[in-house]
Amino acid sequence: MNQVIKEKYNYFREKIEEYIDSSIKVVYPEKIYEAMRYSLLSGGKRLRPVILMETASLFNVPLDEVLPSACAVEMLHCQSLIHDDLPCMDNDDYRRGKLSNHKVYGEAVATLAGDALLSYAPKLIIDNTPDTVNKEIIVKILKEFFIAAGVDGIISGQVVDMESENKKISLETLNYLQEYKTAKLFKCAIRIGGILGCASEHILNVLTEFAGLYGHAFQIYDDILDVTSSLETLGKTPGKDEKSGKSTYVTMLGLEEAKKHALFICSQACDILKTNNIDSEILRGIVTDISEGINECL
Ligand code: IPE
Ligand code: IPE
Ligand code: MG
Ligand code: MG
Ligand code: MG
Repeated sequence: MNQVIKEKYNYFREKIEEYIDSSIKVVYPEKIYEAMRYSLLSGGKRLRPVILMETASLFNVPLDEVLPSACAVEMLHCQSLIHDDLPCMDNDDYRRGKLSNHKVYGEAVATLAGDALLSYAPKLIIDNTPDTVNKEIIVKILKEFFIAAGVDGIISGQVVDMESENKKISLETLNYLQEYKTAKLFKCAIRIGGILGCASEHILNVLTEFAGLYGHAFQIYDDILDVTSSLETLGKTPGKDEKSGKSTYVTMLGLEEAKKHALFICSQACDILKTNNIDSEILRGIVTDISEGINECL
């Protein structure tokens, strides 16, 4: 990503940080609000809300209409990370360079903090989206949110991810788990941006296809980093996938094949933007970040 695009990305990111910080205050019972804020405000790339904001900005949607949905999507993402790290799931001690939520607040509060975020997020969309956005659009946005959050999204992906541990699975199953645990949330983010901008059904489909490809490339890159990166740069424990017997492109086909496949998906994602005249430097930039990252890792 070049400097100018990075500045726009960081501008969105700052808006997200400010909005999240101001939308959850610590009140009684303090512990749960603190646990929610701990994970929400612990860094992170904020990719999904940035994608949502960038997409909405292609349609000139004002910021106050976008921020509640963008932050809700980040809350859903944080919930999925808190639960993903629990001992009953991936059992990870570190996240975003800090101890994971359950390591600080205990398993019970961490589970509840995830639950709390999951219900806080759609309420934020309902309460804080200004009246300039009509109710029909809000219902459409909520539907996208619930698809990504539930059995049509992350939950089924996580179930198949766990069922696929220490087992030989087909490529079809591998693609299913990537699609559901990861790509669906990227699709949700981009679609909400498009829906806020009253995009046509055709453009929504194109955006969805892009986000799907990006999501698969993103997950494979995450799996590559698991074997090539360190705790310091990654902020989470590396080498976990192999140890836990996870089924990924890397553990199933090897590092080189995984890289090749992810690079191919990246080129397909870029082609979609080009063919459909979607002129977004940020959307192009996040794909380039993955392909450059892959080419740099050993
Ligand atoms: C981590 O997502 C979970 C995956 C889908 C691999 P990110 O890498 O976007 O996590 P943060 O938000 O930047 O910490
Ligand atoms: C991410 O998969 C999926 C979700 C969090 C929904 P991973 O288990 O690979 O994510 P990390 O590596 O822990 O971030
Ligand atoms: Mg996992
Ligand atoms: Mg994990
Ligand atoms: Mg991972």
